[in-house]
Amino acid sequence: MNEQMRHEFGAYYLYLAMSAWFARRNFNGFASWMRMQAREEESHAMKFFEYIDDRGGEVVLEALPKPKADWKNVLAVFEAAKGHEAKVSTGIHQLYALALAEKDYASQAMLQWFITEQVEEEKMSSQIVDTLRIIGDNSSGLLMYDRELGGRKKAE
Ligand code: FEO
Repeated sequence: MNEQMRHEFGAYYLYLAMSAWFARRNFNGFASWMRMQAREEESHAMKFFEYIDDRGGEVVLEALPKPKADWKNVLAVFEAAKGHEAKVSTGIHQLYALALAEKDYASQAMLQWFITEQVEEEKMSSQIVDTLRIIGDNSSGLLMYDRELGGRKKAE
């Protein structure tokens, strides 16, 4: 769980880097969306932090890898985010398999929340990637989508 907590903090850090990349290119809607997503990842990491502590475990905070800071285009950023979500899901599923094998019912219940959450996270990132593929090189489409994603009010 400490390792999964590190992945969630890693996602927080990666999405912050993505937000900075967007902001530097004046895609302020995508930047805002990604900053909210980063905050959501921090809250996921903290769920592990609190759970480890609640169960009498020791929270171990390892170093985070330096996130990638440059991408080819907007689509490449969201493709990378989608790929990262798939990796996060794999980690959650491995943890769940371990909790089953260990008959750790409390951890199974805790991880169920994440399994459901990852379905949403993967769906959301896939939808964004699909929309960006439709938009392609159309600048006005890209600017409209930037504005639309900028309308996200809170972490979902
Ligand atoms: Fe915490 Fe987006 O996975």
